[in-house]
Parts: sequence; C-alpha cells; structure tokens
Amino acid sequence: MSKKQEAKEDQPNFFYRFGHSIFPGLLQSLKEPEGYRKLFNTLILHFRPRTVPERTLRFTLTWGLGGMALILILLLFGTGLMLKFVYQPFPDKAYESILHLHEDILFGQLIRNIHHWSANLLVIVVFLHFLRVFFTGAFHPPRQFNWVIGLSLFFLVIISNFTGYLLPWNQLSFWAITICGGMLEYIPVIGIGLKKAILGGSEVGRETMSRFYAFHTAILPAALIILMSLHFWRVRKARGLVIPRRPGENKDNPGESVPAMPDLILRETVVALILIAFIMLFSIAFDAPLGDKANPGLSPNPTKAPWYFMGFQEMLMHFHPLFAVFIIPVTTVLLLLSIPYLKYQVDTGGVWFASSKGRRMAGVAVFVAFIVTLVGILLDEYIFQLSSWMPGLPASIATGLIPFGVLLAGVAGFYVLMKRRYAATGNETIQMLFILLLAGFVILTLIGIWFRGPGMKLMWPWVTGGSPPATM
Ligand code: HEM
Ligand code: HEM
Repeated sequence: MSKKQEAKEDQPNFFYRFGHSIFPGLLQSLKEPEGYRKLFNTLILHFRPRTVPERTLRFTLTWGLGGMALILILLLFGTGLMLKFVYQPFPDKAYESILHLHEDILFGQLIRNIHHWSANLLVIVVFLHFLRVFFTGAFHPPRQFNWVIGLSLFFLVIISNFTGYLLPWNQLSFWAITICGGMLEYIPVIGIGLKKAILGGSEVGRETMSRFYAFHTAILPAALIILMSLHFWRVRKARGLVIPRRPGENKDNPGESVPAMPDLILRETVVALILIAFIMLFSIAFDAPLGDKANPGLSPNPTKAPWYFMGFQEMLMHFHPLFAVFIIPVTTVLLLLSIPYLKYQVDTGGVWFASSKGRRMAGVAVFVAFIVTLVGILLDEYIFQLSSWMPGLPASIATGLIPFGVLLAGVAGFYVLMKRRYAATGNETIQMLFILLLAGFVILTLIGIWFRGPGMKLMWPWVTGGSPPATM
C-alpha cells in the first residue's frame, strides 16, 4: 500500500467522521469482521436484557400477546399520524375528508383500513393478554403494581378506540356516542355534569368532536407512551417474566439463562413480522366500513354502542341503568384492581390456572356462566319482563336492587358450593369467581353484538337470514 493510501485510511472522509460523532465505536466496529452485527447488538441491548431465563421463552407462556399489543399500538401511532394530514375534525368536513382520503389519496384507504383493523384487534389482543397474565398468576409479588398499570393501559386502549369511533362522523359513530353519552346520565350526582364535560354540551356536536380529537390524537397517545414505559420498566424490575412451571413444581428454580440476542429478539421479530403481514393482508382484503354521513335527525334502528361496550348495553336491557352503568361496572373495576392485593395461601405465579383442580373449577364456572346468562336473558325476554313483574315498586328496586341481590346471592351460593365440593384454596375459588363473572360478561357482549336486531329485540340472524346490525 502506498504512503498516500495509508494516510487516506488513517484520515477517514467527512461522512465517516460525522458517523463517528454519533456512534463513537462505529469506525472501529465497521472495520472488524461482523462489525455491523456487534453494533446492532449493543443498540438492542439498551432496550432488552442481556440474558433471559430459557423457560420464559416458551410461546405458550405469553403467546406473544404483550408484544403484539405493542406492535399494534406502534402501527396505530404511525397510521394515525398519516391520517392527521388529511382528516379534518369538524362535523361539516370530517366525513368528506375521509371520502377525499379514500378517493384521491394514494393508499389513503389502505392507511385508514390498517388504523381501523389494528384498533379493533388491539382490544382483543389486550384482553387476551390480560387473561393470560391472570391465569398464569403473574400478578403475585413483585408484579402486583404492574397489574394495576396494565388495567390502566386497558382503560386507555378502550378510550382511544371510543374517541376514534366518533371521528369519521358517520351514522354509526354519531348515534353510538349519543347513546353512550346518555348512559352517563345515570351515574348518581355527577352523571349529568360528567356527560356535559365529555360531550362539551348536552348533545354530540362540534364541541364533542373537538374534545374527542384532542384526546384521541394528543392526550391519550402521550398517556399510553408514559404508562407503557412504566409497564416495561416494571417487567425488567421483576427480573423478567414469571417462570412457567407445572402444578407442584418448585418455584425457586429459574432454570438456565440464554442470551436475549438472538434467542428472545429473534422470536419477538418473527411474531412482529407475522402480525404486520396479517394486518396488511387483512387491510388489503377488507375495507373499514364508513356508511352514511351522520344525520342527527334520523337514528338508526337499533342504535348500538361500539362492540366493546355491547356487554353494558345488553346489561341495560335487564337491569336498572343505575346498576348496569354504575354500580356493577364500578364494583367490577374495584374487584379487578384489588386482585393482586387479596390474601392468598400460595403464590401460584407461573402455574396455568393455579392447579389442576383450579383448571377443572374454571371449566365448571364457564359452563355455569354460559347456561345461567343465556337462560336469564331468554326468561327476561320471553317469559317475564322484570319491570312489569312488580308494578308497585320503584324501577330502581324492581329492576335494580332485587335482581342485583338475586345475582349476588347466586354468586355467593355458587362460591360456597364449589369451595366445599372441591375443598378448594382461596386462589382457586377467586379464580373461579373471576372466570364466572367474566364469562357472563362475554356472553352478554356476544348476544348484544350478534343477536339483537331492530327494536333491540332478540333475533336469530342465521335462521332469519338477516345480518346483525353493525357495531364496528
Ligand atoms: C396496551 C396494553 C398492554 C401492553 C402493550 C402490554 C405489554 C406487555 C408486554 C410486552 C409484556 C411482556 C411479555 C408478555 O406477556 O407478552 C407484558 C407483561 C405483563 N403485563 Fe402487559 N401489556 C398491556 C396491558 C396489560 C394488561 C391489561 C394487564 C393486566 C391487567 C397487564 C399486565 C401485565 C403483567 C402483570 C405483566 C408481567 C407478566 C409476567 O411477568 O409474566 N398488561 N405486558
Ligand atoms: C391506541 C391508539 C389508537 C387507537 C385504539 C385508535 C383508534 C381509532 C379508531 C377506532 C378510529 C376510527 C377509524 C374509522 O374510521 O373507522 C380512529 C380514527 C382516527 N385516528 Fe386513531 N387510534 C389510535 C391512535 C391514534 C393516533 C396516535 C393518532 C394521531 C396522532 C390517531 C389519529 C386518528 C385520526 C386522524 C382518525 C380519523 C380518521 C378515520 O376515522 O379514519 N389515532 N382511531
């Protein structure tokens, strides 16, 4: 090599020096064999742990659900920012701006489709992640507070969906938000004020849209970023995920550790790529519905809430609104928040369904919830209308306190019966109650989405040939 060439090697060009100022190890790394790979690894290891227990890599522990939720949120942030370039948050322009997006903007419809389907899939994925965390007992110490953060994230995801629902300003969105606003009125003392604060007036209109838009595109994304950072930090602080084990297997044996790169990162990348490919294909095949422009003078029949709120709307058909939209949801949220802080005899962290007995009891609870909820709905619809059953009593007692009391007594009776029958521990019975109530709610939701037709009467879409009214 000539002296001139050697001098050139020692004095790299301008761009190399600029690169070096960003990544000081860059020049050296690039000269070494596998330099790029090492550099990439050090970058990744700022975000991910150096090693992880091999057993936590089993797909059947997490099903990749937490990671999928993160990917969907990133997709939503990306596509949401793109939508902002075209979308106009005013009642007289919003719907037209979406038509313009569909017709005149290259890939405009596709971007909206990805945003729409990712948002709906996110609700399902987060719900499944919440179930997996519960059923693997991953809320026991040191993960108690991460359960609370997780529930707050769930709330933010639902509110993000709900605020986004109004933005296309079509019939579905206008009337869904109108009936959800109406539900708020039943909250005692603060209900009417709360409705006004959220809608920006007594009816859905310009103010509502401007508030929902600000929440949807600024406040909620910021809150999601902050809480997700806390969530992941708590996972790291708990030294990674709960270690999966068989019932009866010792808890203090984390097993072998393996390097996160490539063992963990490769799996995460595969799950992310498959999910993105699936969303892309789905969004190419199916357009996000738009329907007609909102018409405040003409309500569709039936008027349904967004699908993730249909469980509450179905509950409203059977219980007094005070119980359906306030007492039952608030009690449920308080119970969910308290789950990690209840007294348990054993730490079942890492054991699916707490034990083999827990699994059997959960199965019985799902079966009972299915039968009781279904029979209850059919009886209320066809045999006796609770409201006309006890005509002398105020509605809040006849369709509120009495059925609620009967429900509580039924749940308490089931609890005592199962505890005795199975000689179960507290862990197993709490899990059983959780699945009993949850399965009941899921069935209410499914009935509301698929089996309620005009006038909110029960319909059998597969028998009558009609399709259920849209909730998405
Ligand atoms: C936006 C929503 C959420 C995101 C993006 C998210 C993300 C994640 C990720 C990536 C993990 C690590 C691995 C995994 O399980 O996949 C995780 C773990 C965890 N998440 Fe979530 N999560 C969310 C909602 C929730 C909810 C609703 C709960 C429960 C109420 C929850 C409770 C937990 C707990 C306790 C862990 C630790 C699990 C363990 O140690 O095995 N998260 N989350
Ligand atoms: C967890 C995060 C998010 C969720 C769950 C979500 C959900 C939704 C939903 C369900 C819609 C209605 C889609 C439709 O037209 O059918 C929507 C619309 C919209 N979102 Fe989001 N979104 C999220 C994040 C964002 C972000 C971060 C932005 C921008 C910064 C954004 C901007 C928009 C805009 C401009 C629209 C109106 C356009 C349209 O309706 O297609 N979104 N969002």
